[in-house]
Amino acid sequence: MLTIVSSSEIEKKQVEMLVIPVCEDADILPPAFMPELMHQARGLKEFNGADNEDIVFYAPSGVLAAQVMIIGLGKKDKLDGEILRKACGRAVKKCIQKEISEAVFVVPFIDVLSIEPDAILEAMVEGALLGNYQFDRFKKPKHPSLLKIAFVVSEKSVQHARLLSKKIKIICDGTLLAREWVITPSNLKRPEQFAWSLVKMAEKEKLKTEVLDHTALKKKKFGALLAVAAGSDANATMVILEHDPGNTTQTLALVGKGVTFDSGGINLKPQGSIEDMKMDMAGAAAVAATMITAARLKLPVRLIGVLPLVENMPSGSATRPGDIVKSFSGKTIEINNTDAEGRLILADALSYVIQTYKPDAVVDLATLTGACVVALGEKIAGVFSPDDRMSETLIASSRKTFERCWKMPLPEDYKDLLKSEFADICNITGSKWGGAITAALFLSEFTENTRWMHIDIAGPAYVKKETAYCGVGGTGFGVRLLCDWLEKAAGLSF
Ligand code: BES
Ligand code: MN
Ligand code: ZN
Repeated sequence: MLTIVSSSEIEKKQVEMLVIPVCEDADILPPAFMPELMHQARGLKEFNGADNEDIVFYAPSGVLAAQVMIIGLGKKDKLDGEILRKACGRAVKKCIQKEISEAVFVVPFIDVLSIEPDAILEAMVEGALLGNYQFDRFKKPKHPSLLKIAFVVSEKSVQHARLLSKKIKIICDGTLLAREWVITPSNLKRPEQFAWSLVKMAEKEKLKTEVLDHTALKKKKFGALLAVAAGSDANATMVILEHDPGNTTQTLALVGKGVTFDSGGINLKPQGSIEDMKMDMAGAAAVAATMITAARLKLPVRLIGVLPLVENMPSGSATRPGDIVKSFSGKTIEINNTDAEGRLILADALSYVIQTYKPDAVVDLATLTGACVVALGEKIAGVFSPDDRMSETLIASSRKTFERCWKMPLPEDYKDLLKSEFADICNITGSKWGGAITAALFLSEFTENTRWMHIDIAGPAYVKKETAYCGVGGTGFGVRLLCDWLEKAAGLSF
């Protein structure tokens, strides 16, 4: 449970744990705030308020809280949203370890910070809510998550903070939904099974839903998508979600790569590359969670979410390297590597959504290439778009949410690398270089003249080691980013 309390209430309140952020070189709380305790903390040698430091006081005098944790944020001028997000994530995790059930965070409420007050609260709530999540479907976590998280703000901002925190909570819930789907093992999210669980959730939020099953996909000639699914005994499925608030002039389409397991197919992945490939549907998870979040937030923009869901497996019926298929668009594709499967399902999904809904813009999210991880590392997504205006607004959202993105090029002449002797296009190049770019260029061949942006999230979609506000597994990357971007797009400024 998330609540907002006013500073005057907190001094009279019995709480289990009060968390107070401090900077090492400036006061960010009013001088009248718990003066005795703050004086005591300042006198300690082992705590200076540096980023990453913390100290706990038990039964401190002059305060009703049973424990107080003071968390360091470092230097005031260096303070930003991500430092706050991380500090709150870490504080929550410490509280969990201490088996505390309720933590109350003090939000810095004097005007000495260069960050906007809304951004401070946003970052703190995000860090705390996301850090409090533990995946518990198959075993009980060592210590339970917090039951109650509260934030203390000044009397005059209580009302605004309540509204804002409601919105942040909805967006964090969306992020956690995506995390949960990505962590779920592939045996429990086969394409049809995953499709129906998505549809059930979406219907609860009053999204319009449509499911194209194997028969429908065959009838509509989704040749590229079906080629990827051919080796699996699980049927390919495509889910289409629609958020239509009415009275809108623009339609945006979101497409998410939904490979529920990527073995590589006949080009089987080696040990070391195959283990975490249950995460290859993180694009679809982010898009579905964003659609659900958009509905909950009643975003005033019409959205179409398209989720091509397949399992990429080797078998007697699998697509062979060298096979040529006809895509939904009519273009023929020579599949020279069955492990370059994401672009095949996205090609058909992009063509379909463009032809069927004629959206004003399309954004796709995909764990598309290892090459993108080589280029940008595990924490930054690659953005590819011929439309600078659209990608710049996204990158602005990425700065705010700290779901980091970096714009990559789409050089026209590299398209030559995708030429095929026998078909319109080949799904891989003969070169080992520039794989993230050529994958994006492949997709661009299926976007007609629609405004389009591709986000390669192969790096940041999954973490193998826990971070300040995320456990091992799916990160939910893309949900906070897209929600922020869509909020702006709803103002039609993208
Ligand atoms: N799903 C993988 C990309 C990936 C790699 C995601 C690492 C997350 C972490 C994708 O389908 C793939 O296999 N890409 C190949 C493309 C190659 C065959 C041209 C790759 O990146 O090696
Ligand atoms: Mn692959
Ligand atoms: Zn893949």
